[in-house]
Amino acid sequence: MSKGRILSGMRSTGRLHIGHLSVLENWVKLQDEYECFFMVADWHALTSNYADTHDMQQNIRDLVIDWMAAGLDPSKSTIFVQSHVKEHAELHLLFSMITPLSWLERVPTYKDQIAQLGKQGKDLNTYGFLGYPLLQAADILVYKANAVPVGEDQLPHLEFTREVARRFNFMYKAEIFPEPQPIIGQVALLPGIDGRKMSKSYNNFINISSESKDLAAKVNAMITDPARIKKTDPGHPEICTVHTYHTIYSAAELEDIRTKCRAGEIGCVACKKMLGAKLDELLNPIREKRAALEKNPDYVNKVLAEGAEKARSVASEVLKEVRKVMNM
Ligand code: TRP
Ligand code: SF4
Repeated sequence: MSKGRILSGMRSTGRLHIGHLSVLENWVKLQDEYECFFMVADWHALTSNYADTHDMQQNIRDLVIDWMAAGLDPSKSTIFVQSHVKEHAELHLLFSMITPLSWLERVPTYKDQIAQLGKQGKDLNTYGFLGYPLLQAADILVYKANAVPVGEDQLPHLEFTREVARRFNFMYKAEIFPEPQPIIGQVALLPGIDGRKMSKSYNNFINISSESKDLAAKVNAMITDPARIKKTDPGHPEICTVHTYHTIYSAAELEDIRTKCRAGEIGCVACKKMLGAKLDELLNPIREKRAALEKNPDYVNKVLAEGAEKARSVASEVLKEVRKVMNM
């Protein structure tokens, strides 16, 4: 029994790290409850990466393969690339006519991101970047999605999407668009290996596609309690990044690890080994699936071609309704 239609997406800006796995787990579950559309947001990636697009196609493929390796199933969900479905662009353009500039300027992520990415040398004072939330509104509304699984950081964009839907319906006296609701899943907040926020710019991430050797090296480099020099020094797990990971991946052993760490009965090397083994076990099936998909580019192309076709068939019907009420 379908509870309705879902649209969600991720920007194609590089390989997924393990922090994304909990997001994907939520998506995987939703596949059985809703009619799902999962979109690789390559136009959204372009808003901040327009100056260097050499890895655009590779990033798109990597993301799709990461998704399927983690359990997104093209026999259940529609998986597609945003730029393959031009209807998103048309609806974005039509929406741009009715959207007050002030609405876009006051979206909280707008000035934030300009400052944040500005520090990385990216100039986001562009027309395209200002329109980011409106493109996202078009992504969602072009399928008349009722629900959108997103992280908390995306809530302002969803609120904005509802405002656009209301304004359109009101202005053209048509009940075309539903007001989509967020689905906020449980997400594990994983720090990077240096204890800071996991981020590409800090180079402190663990990719879900990382090989065993690379994974072990990353776990080894994790910051532990600096007060521990010898194994017998009493430790403080609450300030240790390895411990934070254990809270998520080693639930059964957690109490034991804490007690032994505090008592100086387990060394950090052994503790890291345990975590490394857990993560390896977690990533192994994903790696295997990934490798199989990498070997079969025709299959991946077929998934994306069928996904785009399915997405287009829905989006083009919605566009017909939109053009009709706007006399276009
Ligand atoms: N802005 C989202 C993010 O950064 C990606 C995205 C683009 C999206 N379009 C969307 C998410 C539509 C949900 C629905 O994560
Ligand atoms: Fe961290 Fe484990 Fe070392 Fe304790 S024993 S400080 S939890 S790595």
